[in-house]
Amino acid sequence: PPPKLVVPKSALEPEEPEDDKTKVSVFFGTQTGTAEGFAKAFAEEAKARYGDGEPTDNAARFYKWFTEEKEKEERLKNLQYGVFGLGNRQYEHFNKIAIVVDDLITEQGGKKLVPVGLGDDDQCIEDDFTAWRELVWPELDKLLRNEDEATVSTPYTAVVLQYRVVLHDQTDGFITENGSPNGRANGNTVIDAQHPCRANVAVKRELHTPASDRSCTHLEFDISGTGLVLLLVLFPSYETGDHVGVYCENLLENVEEAEKLLNLSPQTYFSVHTDNEDGTPLSGSSLPPPFPPCTLRTALTKYADLISMPKKSVLVALSEYASDQSEADRLRYLASPDGKEEYAQYIVASQRSLLEVMAEFPSSKPPIGVFFAAVAPRLQPRFYSISSSPKTNPQGYMLNMDKVICTPLIARAYVLLPQTSPSGSYQNAVPLEESSDCSWAPIFIRNSNFKLPADPKLPIIMVGPGTGLAPFRGFLQERLALKESGAILGPAILFFGCRNRTLDFIYEDELNGFVKAGVISELIVAFSREGPTKEYVQHKMSQRASDVWKMISDGGYVYVCGDAKGMARDVHRTLHTIAQEQGSLSSSGAEGMVKNLQTSGRYLRDVW
Ligand code: 2AM
Repeated sequence: PPPKLVVPKSALEPEEPEDDKTKVSVFFGTQTGTAEGFAKAFAEEAKARYGDGEPTDNAARFYKWFTEEKEKEERLKNLQYGVFGLGNRQYEHFNKIAIVVDDLITEQGGKKLVPVGLGDDDQCIEDDFTAWRELVWPELDKLLRNEDEATVSTPYTAVVLQYRVVLHDQTDGFITENGSPNGRANGNTVIDAQHPCRANVAVKRELHTPASDRSCTHLEFDISGTGLVLLLVLFPSYETGDHVGVYCENLLENVEEAEKLLNLSPQTYFSVHTDNEDGTPLSGSSLPPPFPPCTLRTALTKYADLISMPKKSVLVALSEYASDQSEADRLRYLASPDGKEEYAQYIVASQRSLLEVMAEFPSSKPPIGVFFAAVAPRLQPRFYSISSSPKTNPQGYMLNMDKVICTPLIARAYVLLPQTSPSGSYQNAVPLEESSDCSWAPIFIRNSNFKLPADPKLPIIMVGPGTGLAPFRGFLQERLALKESGAILGPAILFFGCRNRTLDFIYEDELNGFVKAGVISELIVAFSREGPTKEYVQHKMSQRASDVWKMISDGGYVYVCGDAKGMARDVHRTLHTIAQEQGSLSSSGAEGMVKNLQTSGRYLRDVW
């Protein structure tokens, strides 16, 4: 599917709203909101420098327009533009979309103002953006200012976003704390990241044996909710291979520390707003959506990421509220180009959390509206691969989606932890169900393209060591259900990898059961710490090169799930070698063939 591009409400038309020559539009595509933040900050800065703006079209329309040949040629002829992409150099298609968009606009006659910016999250993506932005301003100055003005540099200070805050008296009968993300999505017909639903944890069990020094949790969420209607609304499209997003809460000790640093009572009951009292939008209001009215304790627990490393824009916001001048200066220095090295040391290398930084600059006491808008990022959900099929219930009965909806009890999602690496902001956060009195969490489903072939007769090769097994467990349940309904299944090989049969061979009995039932033709396990040398899934694949090649040649699908940087990269190389050797192809021929598999949707990866 085409990437989702979103156009923020940001453009500027200084003097002549009708004159397209002086209109600047900012486009972004975003997954977690970082690109959105950058785009909006950029638009705010543009307004502050040149005037006020007006919203542009929305993203779907941008993409449609962009891919419609004729119209595009016409419209891009006079377009002067710059593109900044956000990516990570560790990944194969580093900033591919940005590079393609940049090239395409040039091809269609657009005039590039600056080279495409390639933000690298492996280093400091904020610095990359700042560097790119500094190239853009002089170019825009040339276009948007008249000649006398162009030589004068504009005095300019960064805009620190803030909500309008209303404090409520606890006794004024104000709304109770039942809104999203932890309440049920009241009145919402869509369940998504902004409107998760509350799901009970039905089963929780450790999959590693006690002798293992690592852990892998099997969780079952009961998504039957409170009844039929809710289920229909909530999970219209959960399919095998999808992901589930789970919100976590901050640990109480971190919340208490934040309350102390902000010097506010945990009982402070407030609401945040993105408009003025008269209903007009706040100036420069590119604020994250407000959360429901609640106490400070609740807001800090549910909505604020307190432990990730603060971005430079956060240091700038903190500096604005530091009463001690030397603290303010130091914060500003750390966020400045001159302080780049120190920021890399003090923040990045030592992995300082927001709380630690605030503790070291105690004179900075940002007000609530600033803290939640510009200091603490919104707590993001974690994603896990769903390891069950909606076609199967725990007893193994085959049911189709209609029956699932009609029979709430069997609608359960199984997930394996962790789907994302336990790094960054979640080091100290616990899934809600682990906190003292909770056995539920706010969750939502994210659809993926990691799906079985529509024709069950086609061969499939599954590669999933460790927790990478998760979606394949769902695949196998689905195949079992298909088989029981009379479908003829094609060959299926599962390459699984773990350290030691007695420690972390998760779901061993179930997998053997699937072999017995004829759902997998072969289960091939690489034990990395049993013999004198490491054996990984890719070694097993090489040993079975001719079978792998035959299955691919017969129209088979290849699925890889698990660690991106090590395993998935090595498996990718192995596939390339197999294609080269078994298909007697040149290196570039093999590369083309693997690419083809990818573009035709027959080589799918769910990696992190
Ligand atoms: P190791 O921990 O012994 O190195 C699941 O985590 C399994 O994946 C483990 O057996 C782990 O082995 C293995 N693994 C680690 N790095 C890998 C890589 N680059 N390719 C394939 N498997 C890997």
